[in-house]
Amino acid sequence: MKPITVNSERSYQVIFTDNLNRDLSALIQGRDVVIVSPKSIVAGYRASFPAEHLLIEVADGEEQKSIQSFGKVSEELAASKLDRNCLIVAVGGGATTDLAGFLAASYLRGVEWLAIPTSLAGMVDAAIGGKTGLNLSAGKNLIGAFHSPSAVLIDQRFLSSLSERDLKSGMAEVAKCGFIDDTQILNLIGENWRDNLSELIYRSIAVKAKVVSDDFKESNLREILNYGHTLGHAIEKHSKYFLRHGEAVALGLRFAAQLSFEFSGLSSHHLDKQNQVLDTLELNAKYPKGSWPELLEIMRSDKKVRGGRLRFVTLSALGVPTRAENITDQQLEKAFLESIGE
Ligand SMILES: NC(=O)c1ccc[n+]([C@@H]2O[C@H](COP(=O)([O-])OP(=O)(O)OC[C@H]3O[C@@H](n4cnc5c(N)ncnc54)[C@H](O)[C@@H]3O)[C@@H](O)[C@H]2O)c1
Repeated sequence: MKPITVNSERSYQVIFTDNLNRDLSALIQGRDVVIVSPKSIVAGYRASFPAEHLLIEVADGEEQKSIQSFGKVSEELAASKLDRNCLIVAVGGGATTDLAGFLAASYLRGVEWLAIPTSLAGMVDAAIGGKTGLNLSAGKNLIGAFHSPSAVLIDQRFLSSLSERDLKSGMAEVAKCGFIDDTQILNLIGENWRDNLSELIYRSIAVKAKVVSDDFKESNLREILNYGHTLGHAIEKHSKYFLRHGEAVALGLRFAAQLSFEFSGLSSHHLDKQNQVLDTLELNAKYPKGSWPELLEIMRSDKKVRGGRLRFVTLSALGVPTRAENITDQQLEKAFLESIGE
């Protein structure tokens, strides 16, 4: 598969590899390397990485994105006395590329890094686009920096050890790319998404690369990537992170499609088609209706909400994003009840 170029504060390539060792060595070019990876992941794949490279093991999942974990990793890096010419290599899911990318943004005021995403969400979303970050107790991703990697290496063989739950959750972001832009993704999911996974990953990365290349720092166009995420993030938080990001986003996508139908001219045919795609992926379809007041409150306190005014990315047709705002609380509640409330 041909590499995909992302243009941001630098231009870099997303490389699809069937020989990770060879392609990684070509990118390292004799530099000092530190691999940052959760023990649970690197243990299974240590042989894929040259033994001479320094390895910093981090906690699994969101725990690694804490200030404490960041402090610990920074101290380990400093103790190794690596200089500005070093290269940080992140090997893991989106939590790892977020942590290692932020480490690269801040260590010695910025060093280069490579992303090797191992989860589907990491491949199609987190590792692409240059956003890095940590969580605070007040909320997710409240600390962060835009710091693009020098390259992203996609090796789909990592997915063979990913849990079914994480695979399906990652498919929510793949479907989103189909809803907002490349509708061929929707046909490929409908046929037999597992057989089409390579092409689905490629196409989703192409969508994200195109959008972030046109709008690196999220002023307007990049906002379309948040389709389904306003409510999705609120549900993720409301569930106390019991739901995976993609599972919550799948619910948010159903809600956003309902808003699109009611306020942005999405046809009932396209609304049904979107929901069928999510059904095919067997992603979450319902959320307790009694949670609505709290969800509304959480949405209003989201860091992206300006002046308390909720604004939603919607669709006027599949593949054609637009925006909807000035929707009353009653209308929002009705859309919630009609789409996912139970
Ligand atoms: N920077 C961005 O633009 C961006 C975009 C989307 C999401 N994110 C972040 O990404 C994170 C979600 O991504 P995620 O779902 O990959 O999270 P994650 O890194 O926590 O991975 C999910 C689980 O899958 C496991 N895993 C990953 N790869 C594996 C493999 N090959 N085999 C077996 N297990 C594997 C991990 O150990 C973890 O338990 C969140 O922190 C989110 O905030 C960032």
